[in-house]
Amino acid sequence: MNASTKVHAQWSSRMGFVLAATGSAVGLGNIWKFPYMVGESGGAAFVLVYLACIFLIGLPILVSEWLLGRRGQKNPVNTMRDLAEKNKASKAWVLVGISGVLGAFLILSFYSVIGGWSLSYIKDAVVSNFAGQDADGIGAIFGGLLASPATLLVWHSLFMLITIGIVARGVTKGLEGAATVLMPALAALLLLLVIYGATTSGFGQALSFMFSPDWSQLTGEVVLAALGHAFFTLSLGMGIMMAYGSYMGQSINLLQTARTVVIMDTVIALAAGMAIFPIVFAEGLDLSSGPGLIFVTLPLAFGNITGGWFVGVAFFILLTFAAITSAISLLEPVVEFVEERTPLNRVKSTLVSGVAAWALGLLALLSFNLLGDFLVFGLNIFDLLDQVTSKFMLPLTGLGGIVFVAWHLDKESVRDELGLDVYDFSLWNLITRFLAPAAVLVVFFTNL
Ligand code: PFF
Ligand code: NA
Repeated sequence: MNASTKVHAQWSSRMGFVLAATGSAVGLGNIWKFPYMVGESGGAAFVLVYLACIFLIGLPILVSEWLLGRRGQKNPVNTMRDLAEKNKASKAWVLVGISGVLGAFLILSFYSVIGGWSLSYIKDAVVSNFAGQDADGIGAIFGGLLASPATLLVWHSLFMLITIGIVARGVTKGLEGAATVLMPALAALLLLLVIYGATTSGFGQALSFMFSPDWSQLTGEVVLAALGHAFFTLSLGMGIMMAYGSYMGQSINLLQTARTVVIMDTVIALAAGMAIFPIVFAEGLDLSSGPGLIFVTLPLAFGNITGGWFVGVAFFILLTFAAITSAISLLEPVVEFVEERTPLNRVKSTLVSGVAAWALGLLALLSFNLLGDFLVFGLNIFDLLDQVTSKFMLPLTGLGGIVFVAWHLDKESVRDELGLDVYDFSLWNLITRFLAPAAVLVVFFTNL
C-alpha cells in the first residue's frame, strides 16, 4: 500500500478501526507507566482524578480528534489548515497539527528505550533468569540493565529497528490481524497475574492503596500528572487519533467507539496496577520505584509460580507487541510529515525520522547511567522528555483540538456527526465548550 492510496483508504469495518485505535492506545502507558505513577503519586487519589480526567476530558477530546480527522480527510497539519480556512478561523490553528507531530517525535525517542527494556526482559525470561530469585535478585537484574549503556543501546536499537521496518514497509495494517489475538491474550495474562496477586499477602493493602483515597495526597502536581497521563494513555494531543479519524468510515459511531476504546485502555491499566501492587506490598518493595516498578515486581511472580517460565516469556512478548503497535502510531505521523514536506520517499522518510528519534533516545538512555547527573530544570533528560510532552504539549495540543471543534466547527454538522439528540448535544456542548477546556486551563495554570 502506498501513501497516495492510503489517504483515501478506509477501515473496512468498525472492528478494524477499534483494533487500530486500541493498538495505539494500549501500550507501555498502561502497563509500565500507569502503575509507577500511581505508586509515586500516593495511590487512590491519583487514580480517581485520573479516571475523572479520562472520562470527562479524555473521552470528549478523543471524539473531537476523530471528528476533526473525519471532516478534514488529511494529515493533522493539513486538516487543521483546511478546516480553519473553511470555518474562517485563524491560520494559527495549524500549530495544533505541528505541535502534535513534534510531540509524537519526542515521545517516540524515550518510548523506544523502554520498549528495549521489555525486549531485554523477553531474553531474561527465556533463559530463566527470574527462576527462584528473591526481590534483591530481581532488583539486581534491573539494576544491571540500567547500569550498562551498551546493553541498553542494543535493545533500544533493536526496538527502533523493528518499528522502522514495519512503518517503512507500510504494513502497519497487517498488524490488525495479529492484534485481534494478541491484545486479548495480554488482557488474559494480566488477569492471571491479578489472580496471583490475590493469593499474596499484599492484595488487601494493594486494593486500598489503589481505590481508597487519602485526599491529603492530592497536590496540584498530582492532578497535572493525572491529566497528562490521561492524554498519554489515550494517544491524544499528537494528531495521531486525528490521522486515524481521517480513515474512519462515515458509518462508524464516534461516541460508542470512543467509549469502547477508552474502557479497554482503562481496564488494562487498572489490571496492571492490581497485578503489581500486591507484589509491592507482599515483598515490602518501594512504592516510588519509578520507571523500574514493573520490572522489579512482575518477574518475582514469574520466578515463583508454577508455569512461571511460560507466563513470563509470554508476558514480555505481549508487552513488547503492545509497545510496538503504539510506537508505530508515534512514528507514522512524523514520517507522513517528512514525506510531504521533503523530496524524500516513504522509505527514506521513515529512516530519517526513525534514526533521528533513535538518536534523541540515546540521551534518554544515558540519563539512566552516565548522564544521570546531567539535569535540565532539575530533571534528567528522560524525565525532561517525558514531562515536557505529557504535562505541557499533550494537554495544550489536545485543548486546541477540542476548542476548535467546540467553538469553530459548524454546530449542526457536529451534532449530525455525533448523532445526538438536543439534550445530549447540550451536555456535549457544556463539556466541550466549557468544562473540559476550563479543567485543562485551571490544572495547567495552578502548576505554573
Ligand atoms: N498511548 C500509548 C500508551 O499508553 O502506551 C502511548 C502513546 C502512543 C502515546 C501514541 C502517544 C501516542 F501518540
Ligand atoms: Na494507553
